[in-house]
Amino acid sequence: MNQKIKIAIDGPSGSGKSTLAKRIARELGLVYVDTGALYRAVGLYAKRAGADPSINSQIAALLPQMQLELRYTEDGQRVILNGEDVSGLIRTSDVTVYASTVSAIPSVRKFLLEIQKRMAGEGNVVMDGRDIGTVIMPDADVKLFLEASPAKRAHRRYLELLAKGEQVTEQEVLAAVMQRDKADSGREIAPAVPAEDAIFIDNSQLDEAQTLSKALEIIGEKLRRLR
Ligand code: DC
Repeated sequence: MNQKIKIAIDGPSGSGKSTLAKRIARELGLVYVDTGALYRAVGLYAKRAGADPSINSQIAALLPQMQLELRYTEDGQRVILNGEDVSGLIRTSDVTVYASTVSAIPSVRKFLLEIQKRMAGEGNVVMDGRDIGTVIMPDADVKLFLEASPAKRAHRRYLELLAKGEQVTEQEVLAAVMQRDKADSGREIAPAVPAEDAIFIDNSQLDEAQTLSKALEIIGEKLRRLR
């Protein structure tokens, strides 16, 4: 294929966006851009600075101090914050809460817009997040909105946290998932809502391979119709 492809994947946390996006990237030879990692890096910086993530002015004051870069290696995307590779450090439960809170701040979204638009502009990308089909790549060739029930998403997240050695109960994880859904989709700015032309995949009853084959079927059909 000689035209550059853009695929947007949005959906709530734990719906399996990153797993799906990575597999699509591998299948179709695209770059996988994980935009949540950028919000997580801002969350990490705010946490380290002892800032209150819900106070806009405190977070806005930190932004000029931050230099963020995305690098693509054989291991996938790396997030570089002021020269430090923070890719592993941004995956903890507390950074997750910071990330969700700072992502509702307009200056944070504006700060992260340019880097995301630049990646989108390069094309041959599959990008996942909350506002990819609506704000970052409204011109994407294919927009998928991945969903799963809150209980299913909480269960997956619980298993991930257990594997990482975090001490949590499934109940706590479900409460956190529901809280984050409310915050991410109820916020005023760039709420996590599907684009009008998004195609929904509910993977509550699908495993990773089934989700991938469903997505590839949709993408293949969409691209055939476009070309
Ligand atoms: O996808 P994730 O769980 O790593 O994202 C972390 C947080 O960042 C999530 O709570 C919502 C926010 N986010 C966002 O607001 N817009 C994006 N495009 C990606 C993530």
